[in-house]
Amino acid sequence: MNAAPTPPKAELHVHIEGTLEPEMVFDLARRNGIELPHESVADLRAKYRFSDLQSFLDIYYANMAVLRTEADFRDLAAAYLDRCAEQGVRHAEIFFDPQAHLKRGVPMETVIGGLHSALADSDVSASLILCFLRDESAESAAEALRLAEPFLDRIVGVGLDSAEVGHPPSKFTEVFARARELGLRAVAHAGEEGPPEYVREALDLLGVQRIDHGIRALEDPELVERLRRERIPLTVCPLSNVRLGAFAELSGHTLPALLEHGLLVTVNSDDPAYFGGYVDENFDAVRRELGLSTEQLRELAANSFRAAFLDDRRRDEFL
Ligand code: ADE
Ligand code: ZN
Repeated sequence: MNAAPTPPKAELHVHIEGTLEPEMVFDLARRNGIELPHESVADLRAKYRFSDLQSFLDIYYANMAVLRTEADFRDLAAAYLDRCAEQGVRHAEIFFDPQAHLKRGVPMETVIGGLHSALADSDVSASLILCFLRDESAESAAEALRLAEPFLDRIVGVGLDSAEVGHPPSKFTEVFARARELGLRAVAHAGEEGPPEYVREALDLLGVQRIDHGIRALEDPELVERLRRERIPLTVCPLSNVRLGAFAELSGHTLPALLEHGLLVTVNSDDPAYFGGYVDENFDAVRRELGLSTEQLRELAANSFRAAFLDDRRRDEFL
């Protein structure tokens, strides 16, 4: 899958567990002596036909069973960072889902230790964002944050992901307040499948500095105006939105409308091993299917540095 070269950029919305390619699922299963319920890589890949977010999450969480040791997490992150280097991604802010690992008996230090060692060895600038699973309890999120406290120097912020509808941001007000008290940045998935109200709650109750996805904000003109006025970045994931059914086809994606409204939009891959491409494939797809100009693609790439959790000096170096 060779995408046309695109400008240097940051990736701000990628789940490290969503970079677990089917080949690596098999390699890690072999290394860890795990029997898989799939006959082959092709058989597993053939199961990646999703109707909505939940149908994807079911297989995303099931595949994580192969991630057991610090070396597994290190190898996973190292493979993603190698892709970044190939694709002109100069900076990455990487989500991880510790509750999904803690639940399987994998300690926080194994997860963060493995991911961090790959980041420390890479030439690509990168940081970690600990995501809370919104379909788990607020107490479970608080426990995850407590377990992460010894490793705060290895985390730039917290996020909120997993099944959105029925799990509003308001459920996590306290744990986000605690995270901000600890000096962490905050982001949240909102308006992917959930209503514009969830985007408002994420801003007002969780104090987030970016919205992940946010595509449904367009249903609410006042909210769009607020996002524009307050320069709240939206980390949009075009191929993901099509694979999970938010848009029937990429040609119907509202990315151009978000840009026309003057919003600070970025393009990202979300779960590239599942959705048909890394960040360059997303750039290439929006160029082809939405007819975005070179100028618009450059603006999207520049936005990714504007929206990143970088200090001004480092941001200027990238821009
Ligand atoms: N976890 C991994 N990918 C996700 C997505 N697109 N939305 C919500 N949670 C996720
Ligand atoms: Zn996501």
